[in-house]
This record gives sequence, C-alpha cells and structure tokens, in this order.
Amino acid sequence: MAASFARGRCVGSDLLRPITRRLFPPPLSSPSTSRFSLSLSTATEAGHPLRVISLEGLGLDTSGAWKQVVHQVQGVFEESRATGLACFYLDAGSIVPKESIARGYENLKAFHGLSDEVKVKYHSTRSRISRGWVPLFEEPAYEQKVSHVEAFDLGMEVSEEDAAGDPGIGPNVWPSELKSFRKEVYGLYQELTDVSDVLFRIFAHALELEDLDSLGRHSTTKARSVMRLLRYPPETVQVVVQDDGKDIGISAHTDFECFTLIHQSAKGLQVLGADGRWVEVPPLPDSDTSFVVLIGDMLECWTNGELLATPHRVVRPKDGRERMSLIRFNGLDNDTLVLPFPKFGKPKPKYERGIRQGDHLQEAADKAQKNTERLLEKGDLPPSKYSAQNSAKTL
Ligand SMILES: [Fe+2]
Repeated sequence: MAASFARGRCVGSDLLRPITRRLFPPPLSSPSTSRFSLSLSTATEAGHPLRVISLEGLGLDTSGAWKQVVHQVQGVFEESRATGLACFYLDAGSIVPKESIARGYENLKAFHGLSDEVKVKYHSTRSRISRGWVPLFEEPAYEQKVSHVEAFDLGMEVSEEDAAGDPGIGPNVWPSELKSFRKEVYGLYQELTDVSDVLFRIFAHALELEDLDSLGRHSTTKARSVMRLLRYPPETVQVVVQDDGKDIGISAHTDFECFTLIHQSAKGLQVLGADGRWVEVPPLPDSDTSFVVLIGDMLECWTNGELLATPHRVVRPKDGRERMSLIRFNGLDNDTLVLPFPKFGKPKPKYERGIRQGDHLQEAADKAQKNTERLLEKGDLPPSKYSAQNSAKTL
C-alpha cells in the first residue's frame, strides 16, 4: 500500500491536525501477549444495548484514562465472542464538541432543504470520486431492496494534482448557496479524523499488537474515509413500489472499511447479533456527543475473523419525522492489502488472500450496482431523474 502519503501533506495543512501524534507521541510499552484477557460483565448493565465508552480524560500519556479505554474496548471484543457484536457507543465529546455536531445537523438540514434544482448542481455523478449529492432512490442497494435515503458525501480535501488519479481521493464539492457549510462540515470531518486517529491506536492496543501504529499508518490523507450527511424520509412521506420494503432506510450490510462512526438524530439503526436477532441501537438519551462504533470488513480480516464486521441496517422512521445521521467511515489507503496479523493464527480461507481496500470497495460498488439494475428492471425502483442511470456510489 502507499502509506508514505503522510497526513497533512496534501492540502490545508493548517487544518489537518495530527492529533494522534500530538496527544500520544511516544510508543507504548509492549502490550502483553495474552489476547482479550478480560472477562467483563454484560454491556447492558446500564440499560443500553451496547457498552458506553468515553474518550474523556485522554491525555499525553498512555496510563490512566487511556488504559481504562483500552480495557473497556477489550471487554467489548471479549463479549463479542458470544454476542457477535464488536460494537459500542463512544462518547467523543472531548474531541468533538456538541456544538460541532449540532452545526453538522444544521448544515445537513440546510443542504437537503435546498431545491432539487439547486442540489443537482452538486450531484455526485459530476464528481470523479462521487462527492456531493446522492438523491433519494439513487443510493446503492445492498440487497434487493430499495433504499430510502438522501445523502451528501465528502472526504479528505485533496487537490486533483495531489490525488494523481487515486480513485478514492480528490476535491470535495461544496454548495456555494450555504456560506458556512464548507467550514463547519469540514471542521466536523476533521474532528472525526482526530477521533479516528485515536481509535486506530486504541484498537491496536486492545488487540495487543506490538506496534500501536500497525493499523493507523495505513490510514493517511489517502484513506478511503468518507463522511455522509444522511436524511431518511419517514414512511409516511415516500412509498416505493415494493410492498414489503417501505420500512427500509438502508438494507442489511457490513461496512467495507475498518470501522464506522455513526451519530443519529433518532432511532432506526439496528445491528445483527450472533443469535440472528436484530438489536435496536438508538441514540443515547443523555449524550449529544455519543457515536455508535461499528467494526468493518478490514478489521475483521486483520483479526482473522476474531472480530466480526457488524451487520447493520436502518429502518425508516414511523412517527412521521425524518431521521438524520452523520456517518464517518474510517478506511485505509486505496492500495492497502490487509492480511491477518500472524498472532491471530493461520489465515482462514476467507482471508488468506487478503483484502485490498480499494478493490473491496469497488467490488461492493459493483455488487450494489447489479442489485440496483435488477430493481430498475423489475420496476421496483423509479428511474433516476438526475442521471442517465443509477450508479453505485462510494459506499
Ligand atoms: Fe453501513
């Protein structure tokens, strides 16, 4: 993989803050070799479906709060052996102020509130890397089910010159009608990059990898790390041809990156446990700064399936109100080939050839494209009003 593209090199170096190295400059002492040595109580002790972990108090050293967070993440990983759910709530308020999140939602509403005639100027098919607007009924179909969601997608701001044709990075598109949109939305993206940097190291420590940069060094300014501003219309507003699919926001899938951060304005997210039951994961009632962290396919491969990517879906609101969410995917550089770390044993057949981040995303996009085409052929999906065909986007 091309990991030499150090964060901060491409654009806006004044805005790109390498918080991982600023906060945690020295390498940690070697972790012990026992894997997931903790046995903690259930995640539901506080009445939440998932354990709640806070980044509050993380500082310059890796003792104290840092060790506590690592312990808690190890607890989640340990529990996931039985539950299948290597996911948790993360209170990231010490890095992402609630005001940033609130402004994220304000900008989400402002953009999606623009007329289609304005939004079509920012249609994602006009962007080489699918940045911008994804209208309702143009979201890729993970299954043979129509998605009910409208999106605005962005990523690391990289000039075309620096992107040099990389299929996953390049310039964003920004709506000129909304004066503070770029500054505020990209500010949130950067704060989430800081969270991502911390989590890559926390995960490496929790997995007891010798080198705590083992994961994060593959997620540079070239990483496939998209942020999405999503709006789900309530069931009462839009009904598609599929009789049995009107409750689908986004159908079941795992994410194709390393891990995902999800902030949501209302319930609707569900995760699939090992027992085959869907578990509702609503927003935490008393925390404006808590995200749901889902494990993705690349981390599953790195751990040889020790951690399983979290199957999830979104159910549309039934109360007549729209649901909004701010999603940050945390991927790896396009060319990164992930193979299971040796400490997780002989690679299982599923992982023995490894997974390349860019290829994996492309295969997922191709599969979704086929699903979309079948839905169009069956008449279940309305033809796109804005592009020649519904095309698979950055997933
Ligand atoms: Fe997802």
